[in-house]
Amino acid sequence: MTRSAILSGLGTWVPPQVVTNDMLAAELETSDEWIRTRTGITRRHVASAGMSTGHLATEAARRALKSAGADRVDVVVVATSTPDRPCPATAPAVAAALGLVGAGAFDVAAVCTGFVYGLATAAGLIGTEVADSALVVGADTFSTILDPEDRTTRVIFGDGAGAVVLRAGDRRQNGALLGFDLGSDGTGVDLITVPAGGSEQRLSGAKPASADSYFQMDGPQVFVRAVRHMTGSVRKVLDAAALAPADISHLVPHQANVRILDTCARELGLPPERVVKNIDRVGNTVAASIPLALAAGAADGRMEAGQSVVLTGFGGGLTWGSTLLTWPEALDVVDE
Ligand code: UT7
Repeated sequence: MTRSAILSGLGTWVPPQVVTNDMLAAELETSDEWIRTRTGITRRHVASAGMSTGHLATEAARRALKSAGADRVDVVVVATSTPDRPCPATAPAVAAALGLVGAGAFDVAAVCTGFVYGLATAAGLIGTEVADSALVVGADTFSTILDPEDRTTRVIFGDGAGAVVLRAGDRRQNGALLGFDLGSDGTGVDLITVPAGGSEQRLSGAKPASADSYFQMDGPQVFVRAVRHMTGSVRKVLDAAALAPADISHLVPHQANVRILDTCARELGLPPERVVKNIDRVGNTVAASIPLALAAGAADGRMEAGQSVVLTGFGGGLTWGSTLLTWPEALDVVDE
């Protein structure tokens, strides 16, 4: 037997408050038409007062545990770049809210690639027998860091959370995570950033400009790199398994922009129906994006046991990463 992490549960939660394109167009110089045609987004969910990333993460995690029929896990990993507090990590509070005091708990910060990095970390802990089970949550509330007057970012991002339960099993079992590709290019640190609030700015002695406390993104530069690195990463993870893009039944990419997803599909030679998309309904939900898309793909009945599925992400850092898995035997997604 070759020990591997097996996908055993999947749950999601998005806050009930919906913001439509028309609602944004009432506030900003934008239009439903621009947002739909340039991004593919029609609406997004936004957290309400009294919530936090940890709250969203807990709701999704509770559903993932229910989906897996599990009441405990050894490790809780929360991928987020909007933690509840700058210090400490959000994961221990999420674990406590789930009744999992005592479990190992820590955050992973890789922005939109965070969920893939979290999966790789948890799979490594399971593979090396540090843990027999893990909960990996991707959760973000980007609504809390967007400049309310910046139409270039306000229209793109939404809040949400998605979680999976991994259990130790055999690599030949359906549901096994079979390989990972992870990468970064820190020369692109300024392309996706909140410049203020960290040690760099605090130690600079300079008072930050107000825009520096908000999220900033160079959209067109990021667009090009997102396509390059997601397609490159998918090819790498497939090469390592001696597979070709044609062997993938479903590609579940980070939902950055529908035009990015279509370009990736074209460059990989994948028919559009093999690429899972739910960006129209939730926008770009950062670390929650991949598990939310995975759940949407599973919910529409397209995944069959044993099929090859590739998850791929790209985001701030810059970071990127992919994983190859087989779809498990029976997985009841819990999203209510
Ligand atoms: O999740 C991490 C990874 N993130 C991504 O992968 C995001 C990648 N980037 C993108 O998705 C796109 O670059 C955006 C959606 C952010 C922007 O789309 P774009 O087609 O690259 O637009 P642009 O920034 O080149 O702007 C084109 C025009 C500009 O006007 P001018 O200079 O041509 O007159 C912008 O000012 O569109 C204007 N514009 C808008 N107009 C209406 C930018 N944002 C808006 C808006 N409404 N919300």
